[in-house]
Amino acid sequence: MTNSIKIKRKINKFNKKIKVSGDKSLSIRWVLFSSIASGISKAKNLLLSDDVLAALNVIRKLGIKSKINKKECVIYGKGIDGYKYNNKLTLDAKNSGTLGRLILGLLINTPKLIKLIGDKSLSKRDFKRIAKPLSKFGAKIKLSNRNNLPLTILGSKNLKPIKYIENIGSAQCKSSVIFAGMRTNGKTIIKAKKSRNHTELLSKHLSLPIKIKSKKNYDLIEVKKVKKIDKLNYDIPSDISSAAFFIVLTALSKNSKLTITNVNINPTRIGIITILKKMGVKINIKNKRKYKGEKIANIQVISSNNIRAINCPPSLNSGAIDEFLIIFLVAAKAKGISYFKNLNELNQKESPRLVWGAKILSKMGIKVIAKKNSIKIYGNPNIKINKNIIIKDFLKDHRVFMTSVIAALTFGGSWTIHDRDSIKTSFPKFLNIINKIKKN
Ligand code: S3P
Repeated sequence: MTNSIKIKRKINKFNKKIKVSGDKSLSIRWVLFSSIASGISKAKNLLLSDDVLAALNVIRKLGIKSKINKKECVIYGKGIDGYKYNNKLTLDAKNSGTLGRLILGLLINTPKLIKLIGDKSLSKRDFKRIAKPLSKFGAKIKLSNRNNLPLTILGSKNLKPIKYIENIGSAQCKSSVIFAGMRTNGKTIIKAKKSRNHTELLSKHLSLPIKIKSKKNYDLIEVKKVKKIDKLNYDIPSDISSAAFFIVLTALSKNSKLTITNVNINPTRIGIITILKKMGVKINIKNKRKYKGEKIANIQVISSNNIRAINCPPSLNSGAIDEFLIIFLVAAKAKGISYFKNLNELNQKESPRLVWGAKILSKMGIKVIAKKNSIKIYGNPNIKINKNIIIKDFLKDHRVFMTSVIAALTFGGSWTIHDRDSIKTSFPKFLNIINKIKKN
């Protein structure tokens, strides 16, 4: 089977109800927490994507068994110190920044040297941001080229708690340091710029020794050593980052309506909803409920005719960081010039997404002015594409592929989009759901 996809026609109007796959951040966190829990943890609706399978493989190499059956995933935790460290252990985080960074926090006390590797994309990403604080605890971390994977980590028996200022807005760094704090005697204190808070919510749900004071622009977090984690049975809600593609598909299609059920609407993740609503997209949040500290709801979207440009407040960046490529498509159809700034972090993802987002829009005939950390998008409410567009395999970035599919289905033109396999990273069922929506 060819690894590219051709799309030559816009999608017809639709009125559907769908469910997207389980949340990636929560799936990886569930695997990691369960791997140091006492007893058998079970998860329903775990995202079975390459990133999560890589997490299961990493804990397997650390001696923790798991099993996937039709109904659920089961992890056989052996307690907080249950990892078995073989000599010359190599762990592979594949494409996953979340796995690569979070697991290091749990390895802070490894008595044997462990090597951490990743794929080509992950090996280009910044690991100094997490090696620095973890070294302060007393672990020895050696990076390649002072910044990257492969790295080696050797833990210490005499870990010391740290005071850490997280000022990038990285949930991965914050979470990794929380994990390290849970393995360290004394009180670790973190002052963290706002970012997704699933690790904190799960810790609270598990009654672990963590305190959080929420300030306007940052959170103050205190963590103490954890002695025991109870087994964690969890029904993973759907991922808003996956729902985002269908929200935009509906907003940009004519006479259509879509309900996406059981989506995690954690306030630190709903930047896309706030941004799109400001742009005039019609979104309703229905049937709000709470689940083990997280918020869940159904999201209803209808076609939106009058989309307005936005001068996007940077305070919304962290809550929409994985959604900017798809948000840029909405800006392409807006009346006026949209401006997104302070977006350095977007170039730190699976591919430099600010650069690549600008490129896709230019290929579509949309004027953009892209700088190092900002982009101006000159929207065209009458945009119609009548040419051939080829999107190459760009560091195998799953979100580049999915964004391109949505552009092809909503703006027209004849598209060849390479690397359909990239969706295995976060959303293997993406094209199946597209086909389900297409069927009338
Ligand atoms: C994630 C945090 C974000 C996000 C990533 C998942 C997480 O990365 O982009 O897809 O699960 O903690 P950063 O923490 O690097 O911003």
